[in-house]
Amino acid sequence: MKRQPIVVANWKMNKLPSEAAGYIQTVAPKLADYEQVDAVLAGQDVLLDAMVSAARDTRIEIGAENVYWEDRGAYTGETSPAALADLGIRVVIIGHSERRNYFRETDEMVNLKTLAALRNGLCPIIAIDEAVQLTSENDQAHWIVNQVVESLKGVQEAELSRVMLAYEPTAAIGSGQAMSPEIAQKSLYMIRQTVADMFGQAAADQLRILYGGSVKPTNAYDLLVQPDIDGVLVGDAALDATTFIELVSLASQAKRIAE
Ligand code: PGA
Repeated sequence: MKRQPIVVANWKMNKLPSEAAGYIQTVAPKLADYEQVDAVLAGQDVLLDAMVSAARDTRIEIGAENVYWEDRGAYTGETSPAALADLGIRVVIIGHSERRNYFRETDEMVNLKTLAALRNGLCPIIAIDEAVQLTSENDQAHWIVNQVVESLKGVQEAELSRVMLAYEPTAAIGSGQAMSPEIAQKSLYMIRQTVADMFGQAAADQLRILYGGSVKPTNAYDLLVQPDIDGVLVGDAALDATTFIELVSLASQAKRIAE
């Protein structure tokens, strides 16, 4: 089963609108060498207009880092999925562990946001985390499976091709310590099997699942060469345009070897 590899930069609450174009102009021409890898840059809302403009006529897709679950209305400070789509945004990260932990997002909210994104033609990247407080492997597995099941409730099989999942163990995010490729592979395999139980094996085999948490050029290849790791979601390391391209190049090499 061939799934197009993908590298997603999650800029989080970094960079200024005036910095977006320079990064994109550095990355865009280099992507021509790696056509088999998808490249997504996700930025905070206030950057999105500048990012979309700079990425026009390039292979870069621009993503949002969050979205609300209603299309419009009296929700001061929230971002409408319809507005994102209208701006030319294709991708949105939902349920990042920073959203879950700092802003108390629940599985139910993640599910509502996923359905809203799909309804508006967006491609959600649903982040699945690991609970630092759970020590037993069984409890951890249950935690992960439950997030997958809850976040995909009500998603139609035909919509699943627009969904991506991202396994991001909380302890690995921003710590400099990525999870070992073998352990990450085990979790991603379990996530894919959970999707297979819900939607059938064929649909699960087409779903792209990413790993995130301290991915950098020194560990990306070993992660991406794992059979169930289709891409990476990268914070810190992807703040630098040259490093982002390096990661795209490593994704391309790793997946060519794995084929
Ligand atoms: P990190 O962040 O690469 O800085 O660990 C990843 C993420 O939070 O998406």
